[in-house]
Amino acid sequence: MSTATDQAIAVIDFGSQYSQLIARRVREARVYCELFAWDAPQEQVERLQPKGFILSGGPASVYDQGAPSLPPYVLESGLPVLGICYGMQLLARELGGGVASAEKREYGLAELQTRDLSSPLFAELPFSQQVWMSHGDLIEELPPGFEVLAYSNNSPLAAMGDEGRKLYGLQFHPEVSHTSYGARIIANFVHRICGCEETWTPQSFIEQSIGQIRQRVGSEKIICALSGGVDSTVTAILVHRAIGDQLISIFVDHGLLRRGEVRRNKELLTGQLRLNVIYVDAQERFLRRLRGVVAPEEKRRTIGEEFIRVFEDEAARLGPIQFLAQGTLYPDVIESAGIGRAAERIKTHHNVGGLPAQMAFSLVEPLRFLFKDEVRQVGLELGLPEDVVYRHPFPGPGLAVRIIGEVTLERLAMLRAADSIVMDEIERAFLYRDIWQCFAVLTPIKSVGVMGDQRTYENVVAVRAVTSEDGMTADWFPMPPEVLSRISTRMVNEVPGVNRVVYDVTSKPPSTIEWE
Ligand code: XMP
Repeated sequence: MSTATDQAIAVIDFGSQYSQLIARRVREARVYCELFAWDAPQEQVERLQPKGFILSGGPASVYDQGAPSLPPYVLESGLPVLGICYGMQLLARELGGGVASAEKREYGLAELQTRDLSSPLFAELPFSQQVWMSHGDLIEELPPGFEVLAYSNNSPLAAMGDEGRKLYGLQFHPEVSHTSYGARIIANFVHRICGCEETWTPQSFIEQSIGQIRQRVGSEKIICALSGGVDSTVTAILVHRAIGDQLISIFVDHGLLRRGEVRRNKELLTGQLRLNVIYVDAQERFLRRLRGVVAPEEKRRTIGEEFIRVFEDEAARLGPIQFLAQGTLYPDVIESAGIGRAAERIKTHHNVGGLPAQMAFSLVEPLRFLFKDEVRQVGLELGLPEDVVYRHPFPGPGLAVRIIGEVTLERLAMLRAADSIVMDEIERAFLYRDIWQCFAVLTPIKSVGVMGDQRTYENVVAVRAVTSEDGMTADWFPMPPEVLSRISTRMVNEVPGVNRVVYDVTSKPPSTIEWE
């Protein structure tokens, strides 16, 4: 399902770690955009009918053997182009300019001086602003027809433009937050130069996707995997608005949920939202499959596969069902397609990567092109309660990826008790909304302690809390010591089998958010 509109921008990705950020900034300017790998088939890009192109940065040098090249359709289209860093160098070389290897890499903050504020790219910006540089090569010679729009100490040619052809290049990165007016520069490009209107709003998305779901599903039945998290709840509501009771939502209790989740979800989904939900108690089934499974990827694959089998069983019971709705988001799609980041698979997320090859459903994924914050906006627009919209993400494989080693009933009970103390204290300290995600991890490590003059030899629990924009990168949350202290005291006192608590102080990268 695509979210094509006649007001879109195509971002061509040359492998920069910031490509996703470019897409986010365009969307924040209320213009729809999609990210395409530089070697994506031309028809795929054309289907979007973009009104302009943004070329991302990338790790290569334009002179490297086999370096990504500028797809010919970009310039042939005659549409406006904004090249960023590597994208600028490609543009310059293609149009007859000179690119040289810089003597030293320029990395970090620089002061940008704008030559001429009459360019629409720099409209309503100050003459001088802070920008983020990260490049090796430099433009040495402007291509014919271009002029210098801005310079910095190290880059006499930090921005170039050919106003007649609407072609622009920036040596710095407008998409990162360190560039003070970067979002404005991108907004200027998409609004003033490409002429895109602000049509990308939660309301327009809702209308469009309801239409698309109706068209695709027709009078068929569809089942939806509902977890009570914001992604699957928004998915279910969209599908429900589109086709009403043809939707059957299925909530699978795989026995790997947090304490109180099943009750809470029943109240929300059936009670408040009045969705038609079937609750499947599959606890035994999952636990049986997980017996003896220790390797993280095997856990994920096992759970992903069992999920689909449960759905297939339910679908068989409910009559012929062709469609399955899922709350897959854009970052999952990007990561799985290997756009942007290195294509190496870090973890199998069961929404996308973990689906078995043999599957009886066609997928309906209305959120496939949305970032998390956009899903939240859509949720608010759909009238979802704030506590659902801002609920922390919870991984599909649940507590299984937070129990290091084998998943057993006893260890699940221990982790549930420890985890509910973390959540409880975070809420009591009014920190819930400051944190992207927080939870406890049960490690297989035992350590020696002393309680009431008795030697203990029990488990270590780790507490993790992070801040993040989209889960792709994250920082550990500077938890106030008094909150940590309450969590630790309560865990050791209240959870049998735990005698030590540690706090995880690693960011992502180099760590990931979940431990497995
Ligand atoms: P990692 O651990 O990869 O997690 O840094 C990034 C974000 O994704 C969530 N996550 C998952 N979500 N199925 C999901 O639906 C999964 O298999 C899965 N694994 C991780 C994680 O909680 C974090 O928000």
